[in-house]
Amino acid sequence: MSLTDFRTLGRSGLVVSPLALGTMTFGPGGWNADEPTSRAIFDAYREAGGNFVDTADIYSGGESERLVGQFIKASGSRDDIVLATKFGFNGSASPLTATQGGGGNPNAGGAGAKNIHRALDASLRRLGTDYVDLYWMHIWDGVTPVDEIVQTLGDLVRAGKIRYYAFSDMPAWLAMKAATIATERRIPGPIAMQLEYSLVARDVEAEHIPAAREAGMGVMPWSPLAGGFLTGKYTRGNTADTGRLSGANPFGDSKFVDRNWDILDALKSVADEVDRPPAQVALAWVMARPGIGSTLVGARTVTQLESNIAATSIRLSAQQMNRLDDASAPTLGFSASLAQPMIRRMIFGGHDVVGRGEA
Ligand SMILES: NC(=O)c1ccc[n+]([C@@H]2O[C@H](COP(=O)([O-])OP(=O)(O)OC[C@H]3O[C@@H](n4cnc5c(N)ncnc54)[C@H](OP(=O)(O)O)[C@@H]3O)[C@@H](O)[C@H]2O)c1
Repeated sequence: MSLTDFRTLGRSGLVVSPLALGTMTFGPGGWNADEPTSRAIFDAYREAGGNFVDTADIYSGGESERLVGQFIKASGSRDDIVLATKFGFNGSASPLTATQGGGGNPNAGGAGAKNIHRALDASLRRLGTDYVDLYWMHIWDGVTPVDEIVQTLGDLVRAGKIRYYAFSDMPAWLAMKAATIATERRIPGPIAMQLEYSLVARDVEAEHIPAAREAGMGVMPWSPLAGGFLTGKYTRGNTADTGRLSGANPFGDSKFVDRNWDILDALKSVADEVDRPPAQVALAWVMARPGIGSTLVGARTVTQLESNIAATSIRLSAQQMNRLDDASAPTLGFSASLAQPMIRRMIFGGHDVVGRGEA
């Protein structure tokens, strides 16, 4: 496999590379890449044949979008690139002020129609383009009715300002309800889900991945290296200098827990066997999981990106995949437990019946 092993994203005609370039690291910030490095990362991804670039209005306070727009313009590649950006987080108050309450415009965030139109116009200005190929709802706001979200985004597809839309960081039921409303009302529907998914974050297998399969949505993992944890650069005995994994994290979880160190041990053992860095094997594992459309790779340097792209050439054996699956197996919640082989056999007279897209 390579970056030119193009595929459609979900049940759509949008043709994308198996690895998408995440640009959360572009622009100012403690663990980010400066402008020349960001440009070099963008160029290296394009030279390797990649066509799928992902940014967000909130990344580096809009600077990531500005840089991506600049690089696309300079390389004359607007037609060739599948350009994705996101709305949802509120840029009108600093994160600190916002978490402490007050200070910003409540209609400058969320999925209400007023914010979506405002956010898209601002993103188009920063990106220097008049359309976005894929517009992500970055995070569910918990209050806007699903009907309103689908109507607003479907209208933007019809107006030609976005070609497709999709959802990131939302409950599976919400995506499923949106897809159903869209089909029933003949409105363009969501085509993909962007979710945290890696060897140390497999919760989405319970509800999201089956929902995506049922609704024809592609799954796009973010943080496939768990923010760098799965590169093996941190060790059990030394988590003093952990870069971007130090300090506050909006999702509140630490990667440095016993369970994750055990998963890392299993990953390193497979990596030794195939003589590749653990990061490449972690990416190869996620790319090979059922339902995965295109995986987001983040990089702070060109060397990191090039190493991550090399993961496309790895094909893990069934035995190696099983070892990684077993070492990282999530605790089955209620929904996932319903699909256990034993229960299937109880239902289907002792037969191991496999559903569409499960194999
Ligand atoms: N929808 C969402 O809510 C959401 C959330 C997060 C991210 N995203 C998207 O997903 C993309 C990727 O996310 P992520 O940055 O968290 O992905 P990741 O692949 O889990 O982590 C990337 C980080 O790991 C380190 N790294 C990457 N490759 C490496 C290598 N080969 N060797 C050593 N270290 C390496 C770098 O950090 P250091 O060098 O600083 O250690 C890099 O910034 C983002 O750019 C963004 O587009 C979306």
